[in-house]
Amino acid sequence: MTTGTILATAVPIIVVLGAVVAFVSLRRRDATGLGHLSRETRQRDEQALSAVGASTAEPDGSGAFGISAQAQALERAVAAERQPAPVAAAPPELPEDWAPPPPSEVGVTRRQFLNRSSTLLMATGLGTFSAAMLAFLWPRPTGGFGSKIKIGTVAAVDEAIASSTPAENFSYFSEAQSYLQPYPTDAATLSNAETTYGGAVLDGMRMGYVALWQVCPHLGCKVPVCGSSQWFECPCHGSKYNRVGEKKSGPAPRGMDRFPVTIEGGSVYIDTGTVSQGPAIGTDTTGQGLEGPHCA
Ligand code: FES
Repeated sequence: MTTGTILATAVPIIVVLGAVVAFVSLRRRDATGLGHLSRETRQRDEQALSAVGASTAEPDGSGAFGISAQAQALERAVAAERQPAPVAAAPPELPEDWAPPPPSEVGVTRRQFLNRSSTLLMATGLGTFSAAMLAFLWPRPTGGFGSKIKIGTVAAVDEAIASSTPAENFSYFSEAQSYLQPYPTDAATLSNAETTYGGAVLDGMRMGYVALWQVCPHLGCKVPVCGSSQWFECPCHGSKYNRVGEKKSGPAPRGMDRFPVTIEGGSVYIDTGTVSQGPAIGTDTTGQGLEGPHCA
């Protein structure tokens, strides 16, 4: 048998034997438990067990402890030490008697706030209502539309009428929202006027003036002057009126409405606070015909 053969047989046998020895050693250590307690540790455990020995004695009274009984006693002792000490319940605190704070600390109470707010609201409402009533009853201011308006001196008014262009003999005064038109004062024309007009409007015609409100009596458009026809021609629906506001054609229900004209102290006034309805359809006191093409 050669040396190689011996080695090839012995080495596996040695390896197998070593593995068996190691396996048996590990199994024995598993059976006996892991590790070993030191002598000091074992002495402390024995002292602790002696301290609890009386309460954990075996029921047979022998005073001997089994391993499991000792462990159980030790666990109970440790658990007892870990139990928190009972805390005595504190006596309930009774609420203090309530006393209202002094007014200086409270300031404005809710009741006071509501009372003052309602009083303020009522005062505001009454004040507003009173102001509205006063404004309603207050006399209307003079000088504006709705009152008697001074147009100018007679000479100035006549000059304005004479210089009107391109329509001739027309004059517009915006403060009165009116055309102040010359009215023929010959006997025949005035005779015609007296059959149709009356009152302050007729008085103005006798002085040679008629004031026509710019508002169309149909639906309220502002009526402009047509320079070619020398009439008033409404652009909205085509109503047409002659130079003194008498209706010639269109849907308007009557001639242009007018205001009284007076002359006081050499000045001409238009009373825009008194409106007279225009003459009925078909009225033609001046006989002014169409003088050129229509504008509307
Ligand atoms: S508003 Fe002037 S004709 Fe209709």
